Amino acid sequence: MAVTQFEPADARRCFPCWDEPACKATFKIALEVPSEVVALSNMPVVEEKLNGNIKTVHYQESPIMSTYLVAVAIGLFDYIEDLTSDGIKVRVYCQVSKANQGKFALDVAVKTLDLYKKYFAVPYSLPKLDMVAIPDFAAGAMENYGLVTYRETALLYDEKHSAASNKQTVATVVAHELAHQWFGNLVTMEWWTHLWLNEGFATWVSYLATDSLFPEWKIWTQFLDESTEGLRLDGLAESHPIEVEINHACEIDEIFDAISYRKGASVIRMLQSYLGPECFQRALASYIKKYACSNAKTEDLWAVLEDESGEPVSKLMNSWTKQKGYPVVTVRVKDQKLEFDQSQFLLSDSHGDGQWIVPITLCCCSYDARKNFLLQAKSESLDTREFLGCSISQGCLKETGAWIKINVDQTGFYRVKYDDELAGRLRYAIEAKFLSATDRFGILDDSYALCMACQQPLASLLSLMCAYREELEYTVLSNLITISYKIARIAADATPELLGYIEQFFINLFQYPAEKLGWDPKQGESHLDAMLRGELLAALVHFGHDIAQDEARRRFDVFLDDRHTALLSPDIRRVAYVAVMQNVSSSSRSGYESLLKIYRETDQSQEKTRILGSLASCPDPDIVLEVLNFVLSSEVRSQDAIFGVHVGTKGRETAWKWLKDNWDHISKTWGSGFLITQFVSAVVSPFSSYEKAKEVEDFFASRAKPSIARTLKQSLERVNINAKWVQSIQNERHLPDVVLELAYRKY
Ligand code: BES
Ligand code: ZN
Repeated sequence: MAVTQFEPADARRCFPCWDEPACKATFKIALEVPSEVVALSNMPVVEEKLNGNIKTVHYQESPIMSTYLVAVAIGLFDYIEDLTSDGIKVRVYCQVSKANQGKFALDVAVKTLDLYKKYFAVPYSLPKLDMVAIPDFAAGAMENYGLVTYRETALLYDEKHSAASNKQTVATVVAHELAHQWFGNLVTMEWWTHLWLNEGFATWVSYLATDSLFPEWKIWTQFLDESTEGLRLDGLAESHPIEVEINHACEIDEIFDAISYRKGASVIRMLQSYLGPECFQRALASYIKKYACSNAKTEDLWAVLEDESGEPVSKLMNSWTKQKGYPVVTVRVKDQKLEFDQSQFLLSDSHGDGQWIVPITLCCCSYDARKNFLLQAKSESLDTREFLGCSISQGCLKETGAWIKINVDQTGFYRVKYDDELAGRLRYAIEAKFLSATDRFGILDDSYALCMACQQPLASLLSLMCAYREELEYTVLSNLITISYKIARIAADATPELLGYIEQFFINLFQYPAEKLGWDPKQGESHLDAMLRGELLAALVHFGHDIAQDEARRRFDVFLDDRHTALLSPDIRRVAYVAVMQNVSSSSRSGYESLLKIYRETDQSQEKTRILGSLASCPDPDIVLEVLNFVLSSEVRSQDAIFGVHVGTKGRETAWKWLKDNWDHISKTWGSGFLITQFVSAVVSPFSSYEKAKEVEDFFASRAKPSIARTLKQSLERVNINAKWVQSIQNERHLPDVVLELAYRKY
């Protein structure tokens, strides 16, 4: 098999060209290939000439397009096909014998093309669409015009061996790449500075499509994972603005990051919710029509939106795309007034001087009583007596049970810090189940961020977490679990003597939903419950719940003998793998050997990824080193190595030494792409001392290269943030009392 990947700037390595997105041209491609292979390019074949063992394949001339979207793929493929309602032929190509696994993606693609045609009010512009599964592929997927390439894990879905989360990945990645056929391919960014127009939009639109196809996945609630990742990266001083100056081709790779994708998608969502979905869609359709077959800049999009809505879109949005960071909005009640104050939120706690035009939304005691306004100045206050339909004007905040939530449904890209009174009331509203899942998510996530920035004690975050003990919503629990992992890691450094109690508290916290879900899938249960089960049980196993660990290993033993057993559905396999690795040590290696056996036997990429992702969680440093060396062996594809590098706290030092010892090799093997940055962040970011930050800095001082420069700075900043957090936790005098009380509290 052979396949091209040109984005961002490698078309020039294949043929001479003006290799910049604004230099569009038509392409007439011909390939000379061995006669037995399938040969694909952007356009359909017009002619094939056989000459002995060689065939020459000519393709129809393409419409005008950018060079980075040109592609060819050849290989021994199987395929399946279907037609859209317009008669466009859509095919999924994959390695021989895997075609059945392409059915799900094919179905999503056909429906999505129809959907985008309606949404953008322009049909898909090429006569065919091929989607190809590539067994070794650096990115997740690539939107080449008419010939989209994917990792196998992002395109293939196996009824028996794929998890619900794998299914969701396939749907969203397909929806993302197909969104590019309009946003990116038909209308292309003028220059890489506007990359976010491509990636932020495709990300946002992929949620729109997925929501329409699978409403039961509540994908807009899951969108909060995008926002929160964007907020996490953009809370660093070493972040960058959405619109970033690009002067050299080597600077492009590293802006394919959470700022372009996730912050980009989030500010689009914020704008859509400010302007309203109908107006927003009309404007997008007219933007696509106006710039079809051409290029556009961020300002061009704002101008169209401004025309359609009559709102000052450019002014509003410039504050979000031209400066890095975002605000924390502090809210307090004072004399019948709500006072709002914005300042730049930084995890390192040194307030920046950014200022934004913040679309504030709030609701008071009910989702029917809302108020919106633009916070333009540094501070503003709102007379609570102005609230229509809300009893706050009669002094209802004096009543127990009254609450105010800012950033309703978390559509705004900012954090909110409430005064103690308001925070207490929200906590009550969560317990009383008055709040939507998105708002429950937001309150927790903001509190966690404030805590990490040392603006709030850990004790108060832990107490807030208690309010979620009856939580059952996937996205909220999933974030609660992520946060608990991080707290446990930091506590291991800050207060090792309390760690056991903190873990016990987390086990108590997850007990209720875990018991509700149990180990076995229920007939007809929801997609979200299937995803949640795996995450919850993995958390119990991670925090040392012995019954869960034993049960996981029991099921694993059955699975070893029978790979089709119903006892270990794909949704909970990772739980078992992690439990197995917890018991592995140099003197008891059988679990590790068994996992390697499964890894070697399966030809399913998702299964391989699941195993790789579990191996390094082993607490034994010698085994961790073995795993890390295995990752560099020929048995692990370069695309997958990074999954094996995610070590636990106990493997941290081993991983760092391993990275140093193997840096030359790693740098040579992965150095020319964007994957190298992930080795740096995975190994460096978990540390939490200033000394370690210095050590890492010293090591890389003589090994600097532009492709890792930004990631290295960001990872070091994270280490310093962790170090500061550790100190602040050590200074919390009441923490031990709170932790002990929580650990022994039974629900
Ligand atoms: N255009 C990108 C692929 C890409 C990424 C090319 C980095 C060059 C450098 C593609 O549309 C994309 O965004 N792929 C994502 C998957 C997507 C669903 C988030 C990826 O590769 O992770
Ligand atoms: Zn993309």
